[in-house]
Amino acid sequence: QQLKLSLEQIEKGGYEHFMLKEIFEQPKSIHDTLRGRLLVEEGIIKMAGIWDHLERLNQAQKITIIACGTSWHAGLIGEYLIEEFARIPVEVEYASEFRYRNPIITDKDIVIAISQSGETADTMAAIKMAKEKGAFVYGICNVVDSSISRVTDAGSYTHAGPEIGVASTKAFTSQLTVLSLIALKLGKHNGNLSNQEFMRLITELDALPKKVEEVLETTNDIVKDIAKHFIGAQNFLYLGRGYNFPAALEGALKLKEISYIHAEGYPAAEMKHGPIALIDENMPIVIIAPKQGHYDKIVSNVQEIKARKGKIIALVNKGDTQVASVADYVIEFPETSECFSPIIASIPLQLLAYYIAVYRGANVDQPRNLAKSVTVE
Ligand code: G6P
Repeated sequence: QQLKLSLEQIEKGGYEHFMLKEIFEQPKSIHDTLRGRLLVEEGIIKMAGIWDHLERLNQAQKITIIACGTSWHAGLIGEYLIEEFARIPVEVEYASEFRYRNPIITDKDIVIAISQSGETADTMAAIKMAKEKGAFVYGICNVVDSSISRVTDAGSYTHAGPEIGVASTKAFTSQLTVLSLIALKLGKHNGNLSNQEFMRLITELDALPKKVEEVLETTNDIVKDIAKHFIGAQNFLYLGRGYNFPAALEGALKLKEISYIHAEGYPAAEMKHGPIALIDENMPIVIIAPKQGHYDKIVSNVQEIKARKGKIIALVNKGDTQVASVADYVIEFPETSECFSPIIASIPLQLLAYYIAVYRGANVDQPRNLAKSVTVE
């Protein structure tokens, strides 16, 4: 027991929990995801899995992304990325729904399966079905040599390193990084992305590990402090638009998983179709509001919340004044292209969930009723 404990402490590398360690590892894990693939000086993205099947991928009638949990949220952002840059129609499905509903999949389709563990039973079953229907299945897994990585026709590992905390953090941002690489590579080769635009985007992508490091350094203490005010919260609403709508879903999932506070993510514009009825002085609302991406619309959402006395925690870019002046709590993060902003915005959201859970005395690494890898239905 003694030995086991000290081993675990060594594995945690001085952090109180694996989750916190993994949150702080993200500058490195994202860098590892990019390493050897993103060659900015040469102006290329090297990915054997994509390169070897480029024609099949670029000629896809549609791409269906299947996944569960956090990986499904990464898939939603993948849809935005692939449709924007490669202009291929994308659908995103929960693997558990896909497998039981006889979906329209043919041999002209590509299915992308995303899974941290590479062992999720529903995702595995969905892949089998997609293959039976003739689709080409591309895997995005973190665990090397996992079941899913073995049954897929091709794939890319995320290379985030082992993730121990049940709530996924660094695997998620690495999934987003791989999806970004795939979307940009497809877009470049099928002519939808100009060379100039491609170069601008890969330069931004290359800068992400540094920006993630910066957001960790500058927001950790602020978020820890904000978290104190919400220990007793019973509900939370997370709002974002465009690329940051799935980031809002993921932020809410993190909080639910580890703090047991009910939380919902919503596209900010949908607020008026339901959630607005819940807003009063007891409702904390996390709103992701980077400069790019419908900023003006977000500003009016923030004002609507304020008018109903909701408590606003705003994630804004550095130097923002408009949203910041209305919000109750402000978390600043470095600017990047809209398509990459969920990678940076997710970091303070992970920290917020983490600190609220810790203050509530929850077991953040092993939340009740949840498993890291769900190998049964
Ligand atoms: C479980 C885990 C989640 C994960 C989901 C999908 O619910 O607790 O963190 O997102 O499974 O897992 P996968 O390994 O397929 O990404």
